[in-house]
Amino acid sequence: MYKEETIGAAAKYVQEMLSGEGSGHDWWHIQRVWTNARYIARQEQADLYVVELAALLHDIGDHKFHNGDETVGPRMAREWLEQHSVEEAVILHVCDIIKSLSFKGAGTSSAMPTLEGRIVQDADRLDAIGAIGIARTFAYGGHKNREMYNPSINPILHDSFEAYKSSTAPTINHFYEKLLLLKDRMHTDTAKSMAQQRHQYMEDFLEQFYAEWEGKR
Ligand code: ADP
Ligand code: NI
Repeated sequence: MYKEETIGAAAKYVQEMLSGEGSGHDWWHIQRVWTNARYIARQEQADLYVVELAALLHDIGDHKFHNGDETVGPRMAREWLEQHSVEEAVILHVCDIIKSLSFKGAGTSSAMPTLEGRIVQDADRLDAIGAIGIARTFAYGGHKNREMYNPSINPILHDSFEAYKSSTAPTINHFYEKLLLLKDRMHTDTAKSMAQQRHQYMEDFLEQFYAEWEGKR
């Protein structure tokens, strides 16, 4: 009972903090990750309380410090959890998950030692692929004033990798840098199977996009 109240309060706190956020980490992203995480956690028989709190709090540091201090998120989460008298073991676990999630360093697979952490990471990654992933990516590209696509910077040709890593790279290149790689980075069987359909949807989208670009179909 008190757990449900804490989760409700966490949702309210995050919703208020992130309302109007335009960077792709808005409240609706959190809500989708929360929904996905809850579903996966039930399938995988994980600790739902830890999963829900970590899903809700996973991006609270991001909105103010996009490229900055990765310790902000976990610290803000701890403060909130302490204020709401959450037990220390849960705080440690939740903050550990947020810490590992917000680490965006060179390593592709940052350590995610617990099932609950792997579930939240899967849920976050699911929201970066499929129809939602496509929409978020073009929204982000528009926000950055990027071209959607530029045939002279062909993302399929790997010798132009440096060109499309640059900040002026068109949005479609992000599919090859990240989105199409995510299905193989899912941890849980539940997320793997959810990712398959979303992945195929992106492949189909790209095929159609190029066909329309060429005036076919
Ligand atoms: P996450 O929080 O899922 O690790 P990011 O913070 O890197 O992802 O980005 C959030 C969203 O912004 C992504 O799902 C993606 O759609 C979009 N995004 C991030 N980087 C780029 C980019 N270079 N080009 C286009 N979209 C991007
Ligand atoms: Ni996120």
